[in-house]
Amino acid sequence: MSHVEELLRPELADLKPYVPVHGSFRVRLDANEAPPLLGEHVAERLARELARVPLERYPDATAFELRSAVAERLGVKPEEVLLGVGSDELITLLLTAVARPRRGNEPPAVLTTTPTFVMYRLSARLRGQRVIEVPLDAEWDLAEESLLRGIDMSEPHVVFIASPNNPTGVVARAERLARVIEHAERSLVVVDEAYVNYADRDVLELFRRHENVVILRTLSKIGFAALRVGWLVGNAKLVAELDKVRSPYNMNGVSQAFATVVLRELWADVEKLIAAVKSERTRLAAELARLPGLELTPSGANFLWVKTARPAADVLSELSARGVLVRSFHASGGRLARQLRITVGAPAENDELVRCLRESC
Ligand SMILES: Cc1ncc(COP(=O)(O)O)c(C=O)c1O
Repeated sequence: MSHVEELLRPELADLKPYVPVHGSFRVRLDANEAPPLLGEHVAERLARELARVPLERYPDATAFELRSAVAERLGVKPEEVLLGVGSDELITLLLTAVARPRRGNEPPAVLTTTPTFVMYRLSARLRGQRVIEVPLDAEWDLAEESLLRGIDMSEPHVVFIASPNNPTGVVARAERLARVIEHAERSLVVVDEAYVNYADRDVLELFRRHENVVILRTLSKIGFAALRVGWLVGNAKLVAELDKVRSPYNMNGVSQAFATVVLRELWADVEKLIAAVKSERTRLAAELARLPGLELTPSGANFLWVKTARPAADVLSELSARGVLVRSFHASGGRLARQLRITVGAPAENDELVRCLRESC
């Protein structure tokens, strides 16, 4: 090992960089992005906005206009909003900030479910934190008793609950989430609502009732993944502390300007996109349920969680060979070996997926 390598955090030895699948696929339904269904006028409006961004200047370091636009849209105060380069950045920022040692040098613990969004685990491990993963129940919902026990045993600094969850699409049952929050009064509970625009309920108001609850949201799943804009909503005092960890100018000027226009002027278009995806979700789910051997979990997100009769790895590779990319978690084994996560795409993409699945599942 070279001298420099000896200086690297030991956790890096077990980690791999995040590299999405490369290759040319005709249909990509693997990353939970929204399909390109926003009208031409959206691109035109943003092009006009681009011309107004002073590119030679640093952007507003506090991103006040964008924070205000988020706050207006949600009915909260700008000081209750923290912006991040996607919710990914907010996850890492939270784990950096909420890490005061409790007993001697024992590293903080992070508790979450499994399966869930991988960044909670990766970010925590990168910081040398312990990760406790509590399996979801048979219906892929929160396993309340196990979670309560996990909280008692590990006394986590942070609890992450994604609702709707990735990759299952399940919206956590409200009573179960409430019990977990009540039980985790010594932890920060992060409810990640990245997909909530596709669900029929949200829990934003929980941040007002519990000062240890924060909510994460993002523009990535509703048509603007390229902007990398996410936000956290929480108690203003906590937000002010977390803001000290944020790097200056984390929100670039173009993203600030575009996201502000999206929230203030183009929201009707976003709502139309969401409605179109939800209606495609219903149609695609019905088509898939008709194929032999596939079972679907009801989804509150812009993707479907599909159980396959054959190993998911086989279906994945047959679909890939036909130019259609979906997401498989077979490497984790167990009950995930027969599950696929399929993003709801544009109508023609969904038709193509169904056609290929008919030939290969
Ligand atoms: C549950 C969940 N949270 C957060 C994110 C990250 O979103 P962003 O693009 O805002 O970083 C994802 C992305 O897949 C996700 O599935």
